[in-house]
Amino acid sequence: MKVLAVTSEIYPLIKTGGLADVAGALPLALARQGVRVRSLVPGYPAVLGALEKARPLHEYEALHGGKARLLEARAGKLELFVIDAPHLYRRKGNPYVDEQGGDWKDNALRFGALAKVAAEIGSGLVPGYQPALVHAHDWQAGLTPAYLRGGPPTVITVHNLAFQGLFPSMLAEALDLPPEIRTMEGVEFHGRIGFLKAGLFFADAITTVSPTYAAEICTPEEGMGLDGLLRARARVLSGICNGIDTNVWSPRKDPHIAACFGVDELDLKAANKAALREKLGLEARPDVPIFGVISRLTEQKGIDLIASVLPDLVERGAQFALLGAGDQRLEARLREAASRYRGEVALFTGYDEALAHMIQAGSDALLMPSRFEPCGLTQLAALRYGTLPIVSRVGGLADTVIDANEAGLSAGVATGFQFTPVREAAFRRTLERALVLWQDKKSWRRLQQNAMRSRVGWGTAAKLYASLFRAVVKRVGDRSVTGARREASRDASAPKMRAAPLREIGKPSGSKISKP
Ligand code: ADP
Ligand code: GLC
Repeated sequence: MKVLAVTSEIYPLIKTGGLADVAGALPLALARQGVRVRSLVPGYPAVLGALEKARPLHEYEALHGGKARLLEARAGKLELFVIDAPHLYRRKGNPYVDEQGGDWKDNALRFGALAKVAAEIGSGLVPGYQPALVHAHDWQAGLTPAYLRGGPPTVITVHNLAFQGLFPSMLAEALDLPPEIRTMEGVEFHGRIGFLKAGLFFADAITTVSPTYAAEICTPEEGMGLDGLLRARARVLSGICNGIDTNVWSPRKDPHIAACFGVDELDLKAANKAALREKLGLEARPDVPIFGVISRLTEQKGIDLIASVLPDLVERGAQFALLGAGDQRLEARLREAASRYRGEVALFTGYDEALAHMIQAGSDALLMPSRFEPCGLTQLAALRYGTLPIVSRVGGLADTVIDANEAGLSAGVATGFQFTPVREAAFRRTLERALVLWQDKKSWRRLQQNAMRSRVGWGTAAKLYASLFRAVVKRVGDRSVTGARREASRDASAPKMRAAPLREIGKPSGSKISKP
């Protein structure tokens, strides 16, 4: 089966977060399930620079304001379609924000073009290439199902409901959105155009990246204003936990770490701990655990909670290896801690892939006190490196870490620590639990071994995606053959927007349109 994936990031070419990791790894895992994925991506400089054997397939005289070409290319094992549109994508740096940290002013057109080209490919633009299904990722690809009404079946995957792609309604014309879908039963979201909303409304199936997050986003508390629509579409909504690329994240053969190790060689973690201390200027104190953090520095990730608990932990004897970038105020709080506790707290601000691997290998535990977490990938890598995740019990964190409570310990299955609610007091209590257990070297070792044996690869997820894709294709069929089938397929799951009006956007972050 051929599937066209539509994504604004793809590892290793361009990455701001987990979306890139997923978009880069899933095609390779799906290939083993007989699903051949070709991914459509914008031609940012980093993408164009990485292409092998690029071949032009189509020329646009005017694609949202300028000339453009559609290329077919490979990059390593990835099969790609690339939109080479200099007026939209040939800008250095972050794909979503300019040098001042503000969203690119023309993001609606930039990602509207991504969806438009995806829909055209889905509708047969490329001779000899007809995908059986189109798989859109996040708001950036959200208009794809809206443009593809009448084309092949579509699935949209929500990686983060906080980023919705909301734009002024006057752009509808420029985006070529037909008048009949510029309504609440279409792309309109509280007076604006909602890219993600459009995708959720028109896609034949919706997935998100963990079962717990799938349930959470149907509630007013976590639905960010889209819970009404998601509840209306609950029959076609499911959660599939992400995996990680176990070739990239493999402690046995990781080129970035000081000493490679397997599950029976956990003593070698000490060498990685020493190397991490040396790299970051942490005091060599062997009887002290290192807590690692690798994260976007945002409210979502609970970085403020880490800043709050940090002084007490340092006083008690703990060190911190912090890697992240994002919110200036959070960065400043961490920087202050690092200068106050020089030698015990190290902060690297920026994006550093090699250091991320060193922190995973050299830390004792990884902190992820997220307020919400659709899936989370860093805790999966931590498990694989025997670095016990200490996480809030939300979203994918709830689904992937087994708490070292009495039951978990006595059954011998625990892999880390969970806390709830996401408040400082509960976080502190759990850190205390972890510190106590850390003193008990035998029990800690057992947890590390369980963690390293957890299944964190893409195998299970790829099987689930493949069977979902096949089921959707079977259910929806080819709409280009008969429009009537499509109507039938939308059946009872079709959202009844007037009957179930959407809530006002409940959280300020609900209107964010790009990652910081
Ligand atoms: P999110 O996508 O919400 O940021 P995930 O846990 O799904 O969170 O994915 C984050 C990915 O980005 C992981 O691969 C993690 O290792 C990586 N990452 C995050 N921050 C940094 C950083 N500062 N330097 C290097 N890698 C980072
Ligand atoms: C988003 C989420 C994260 C998830 C990633 C990949 O960025 O914040 O939880 O792991 O997407 O799906």
